Amino acid sequence: MKIGILSDIHVDINASQGKDTVTPALCSYINNSTVDLFIIAGDIASNYLLTLETITTIEKQTGIPCLFVPGNHDIWTEYHPDMTSWDIYHALQKHPHNLASASYRINDNWTAIGDIGWYDYRFGSNTYTVKDFDRMQYDGRVWQDSIQAKWDRSTIEMHTFFLEKLENQLKEQKDKNIILVTHVLPITAFTVQNPPPLWEYFNAFMGSPDYGKLAEKYPRIKYAICGHVHYRKEVKQRDTNFICSCLGYTAEWSDNDDPGEEIPKAVKIIEID
Ligand SMILES: [Fe+2]
Repeated sequence: MKIGILSDIHVDINASQGKDTVTPALCSYINNSTVDLFIIAGDIASNYLLTLETITTIEKQTGIPCLFVPGNHDIWTEYHPDMTSWDIYHALQKHPHNLASASYRINDNWTAIGDIGWYDYRFGSNTYTVKDFDRMQYDGRVWQDSIQAKWDRSTIEMHTFFLEKLENQLKEQKDKNIILVTHVLPITAFTVQNPPPLWEYFNAFMGSPDYGKLAEKYPRIKYAICGHVHYRKEVKQRDTNFICSCLGYTAEWSDNDDPGEEIPKAVKIIEID
């Protein structure tokens, strides 16, 4: 069985002259491939209604399930100021292929478990305090979650909430191989390396090593998929393949602005039994 993996497709930010060019290109890519299942690790859109519409379109146009987790953009309140991020998170959970609603049984041997995850600042430089990171501002740059993500708990409490939720699901799936999906990063290797001062600070908002530690504790996690940092990287640690395969923003693509050309370069395909 072949599974296509992608993240951070940002169909609204990547729109060309107001038109979503990513979704049709992704559907066409899937239809010309032999993948049986697709997984998107968050940041589909910055408006949850568009996130849901995009997943529905992909499933309808390709005829295969498209599992996803929300990213930080998907729970932003910018387009729904009357809602909290919890309201949006729960609205997104109504989609049955949102892994934040329930784990997904792929076949007799494999299950997918996932959620957005959050960050606990530990990927940031230890020259800063929690109070420094709570400000979510450095050198005039503002981390947009401080404005657009409206939870009713502290940042670290949000991280703990998602970590415990994922671990509870892992405890229930003792006999299956697991594909773990988070939007945020589970390992230091995916953070911005040799960071300039700005990223010594902003790495704090990339994720938490606690998600990676789940793979040590539950070695049946054979794949741990994430997005968020807009990288395309793979690292194997012990028995787990960590995969970050982001489409990212058009402006970040090296030599073109055509999703039809960029999607095949960004998608990672894995094969499971
Ligand atoms: Fe993103």
